[in-house]
Amino acid sequence: MEHAFTSLSSEDGIFLIETRFGIRKFCFLSDSSFRLYEPDSPISPCVQGAVPVREGVKASKDGSTYRFQYGKVVVEVDEELHIQVRVDGELVLDATQLSVTIQGGDFSLAEKEGHHTSRDSGAQHGLHILNDRPVYGLGERTGPLDKRGYFYTNWNTDDPSAHVDTFPSLYQSIPFVILFDPKATVGLFIDNTYRMDFDINKSDEHAVEVRYEKGCQDIYVFLGALPEVIKGYTALTGRNPLVPYWALGAQQCRWSYPSASKVDEVIKGYRDADMPLSCVYLDIDYMDAYKDFTVDASKFPNIATWLKQKEEDGIKIVPIIDAGVKAEEGYFLYDEGMEHGYFSTLNGETYHNEVWPGDSVFPAFIDERVQQWWANHIKEFLELGFAGIWNDMNEPASFRGPLPMDVDMGKGILHEQAHNIYGHSMVKAGAKGFEQANRRLFQLTRAGYAGTCRYSSTWAGDNQSIYDHLRLSLPQLMNMSLSGQAYIGVDLGGFGGDATPELLARWAVGGLLNPLYRNHSALGTKDQEPYLLPEPYKSAYRDALKLRYKIRPALYTELYLAETQGSIALRPMVYNYPEDSRTYNENTQVMYGRDLLLIPSLFPGQLCRAAYFPEDYVHIVTGKVYPKGDHLIDVGIGDIPLFLRKGAILAIEEGEELVLLASSKDAETLYYEDARDGLEYRKGEYSLIRYRLQDGKLITEPIHEGISPRHKNVIVRYL
Ligand code: GLC
Repeated sequence: MEHAFTSLSSEDGIFLIETRFGIRKFCFLSDSSFRLYEPDSPISPCVQGAVPVREGVKASKDGSTYRFQYGKVVVEVDEELHIQVRVDGELVLDATQLSVTIQGGDFSLAEKEGHHTSRDSGAQHGLHILNDRPVYGLGERTGPLDKRGYFYTNWNTDDPSAHVDTFPSLYQSIPFVILFDPKATVGLFIDNTYRMDFDINKSDEHAVEVRYEKGCQDIYVFLGALPEVIKGYTALTGRNPLVPYWALGAQQCRWSYPSASKVDEVIKGYRDADMPLSCVYLDIDYMDAYKDFTVDASKFPNIATWLKQKEEDGIKIVPIIDAGVKAEEGYFLYDEGMEHGYFSTLNGETYHNEVWPGDSVFPAFIDERVQQWWANHIKEFLELGFAGIWNDMNEPASFRGPLPMDVDMGKGILHEQAHNIYGHSMVKAGAKGFEQANRRLFQLTRAGYAGTCRYSSTWAGDNQSIYDHLRLSLPQLMNMSLSGQAYIGVDLGGFGGDATPELLARWAVGGLLNPLYRNHSALGTKDQEPYLLPEPYKSAYRDALKLRYKIRPALYTELYLAETQGSIALRPMVYNYPEDSRTYNENTQVMYGRDLLLIPSLFPGQLCRAAYFPEDYVHIVTGKVYPKGDHLIDVGIGDIPLFLRKGAILAIEEGEELVLLASSKDAETLYYEDARDGLEYRKGEYSLIRYRLQDGKLITEPIHEGISPRHKNVIVRYL
């Protein structure tokens, strides 16, 4: 009862709570978020700007129960660490400290044959959270959009076998879980970089359990509608800075194009086939003996001149950089690192393992001195004429067994704690290099943790050329997006294995709204460049590419809004239709922004499929109107099942014209433009305009006008 509580005071907004498990600290961060944590929680690798609310918090204690109120939110925590959160009097979160429950049984026989068993990692601490709501988040994972019934582990893992639903972990570990309710969604960010398990309504059908053996309890809770929860989380941990405009075009990759002349041939292949292209990646074979920051001059002679030529031809070149550094005396990077003690150590000695270059050492990226050293090399490499950096093998991957848990990865932080933030720290260093070079950031990374998107975008690693992975890419990318990552993608066509022409053509359509649109394939697999496709697949791929190029203004606008306003670009339908339960586990339809809906074919031979429209939509290509409800739509080769919400405008680019493609006479859209590269947009050199049609009359409402318009004409066209 409220009146029994005696009041507590705090000058800095941080309150101490005594519990059976030790002292906890509590503070509100806003009227919809708070933090509960152990006093000796380590400095977070990602949280910036968590400022406690100092005034207006009512804090009191009754017996062993603490009660904190700020605005509509009441948080009660008792001695047993039973946490109850109410918003407007309604219980939205009920969690208790987890007592030890380790699944018993010896499963080693099954594991010997390589089976995945449901053994957890022996975790003993954590939270038991009552939950009957759909669960989203956790970043890059296999499995469906709604994660209930699945088990996941936070331990960045490079497993090139076909990623299936039973995989507990992939390359990234984002401990952000969303318990969805149309009005009262709860987001939990458990900031612990050690290995952590998430049992999502699996062992207990009515609870999410978060378990960990090591590390401190450091929990951030976000409350409100789904968009607000994500916005709060990304404001705290970081957002993807806007990528350059070219990054929305077609990107081509291959392990590996072995020479400059081969890359030139690929560029010509695209041109001759009338397929637009904006970027080619150089995989590991451009290097001299797989040594980072070197270029094999016999394959890429006069690299700076060649890069300049490509730039003039409108093609960006992005090289791969791996975490493992070749251990070879006389190699400048190794020598510099050895001289300054920049590599990870084991028992005081430089730690060695094996990666592409053979015997390798691992930069101690957790150390800021090492980050600075790496940043200098990234800057130099960029200044050679590269347009971005593709960071790989940074889980870190190793070929001679996993790194021991006690490898020191910088500042005395051991592998067991540093593992999940090793890639994060590598790209943090890289981002410093971009900053020093005064360049707009364009990095990809394979490994990551919460907040990594502040420094790098993500591609989802080694998928395969199978329909299952085309299907997987939708919920996987949607959950990455819900976890705050804006510029994301999977290898189109699939990386491992041989893509059939049909799969490749279907993936070009199925990935049409993926912010990163990159075709990549592995060494030893069938060539996957789209200009090699036979008909009708080649034309289908070309049509998808051309449409993709047209819609770039709309894609770009949403990425700008994601950075500056915390909305998300690629969206599951539930983000836009939170009241419509049909959307809660929709794994085969995907949205971009508020208005674009893609309903792709995910099977070979398919000619038509079921589509669900939560309101009226219009087909982008045919102009056919689909009223709210269920329909069969055409998804044969050559069909592009992309739809615009009725009442929306799609801003597309056609040559020098900006075309406002309108779905009705009363419609609107936001449109963003800037110099398309560089950092001047941060100084106000951009325009954000609301275009509105009112009974067919165009109204232009500038929200910010910081540059002169890029397009000669703005014209309205009806679908
Ligand atoms: C890893 C990457 C892949 C790359 C290969 C060679 O498997 O995930 O994209 O092509 O290494 O560098």
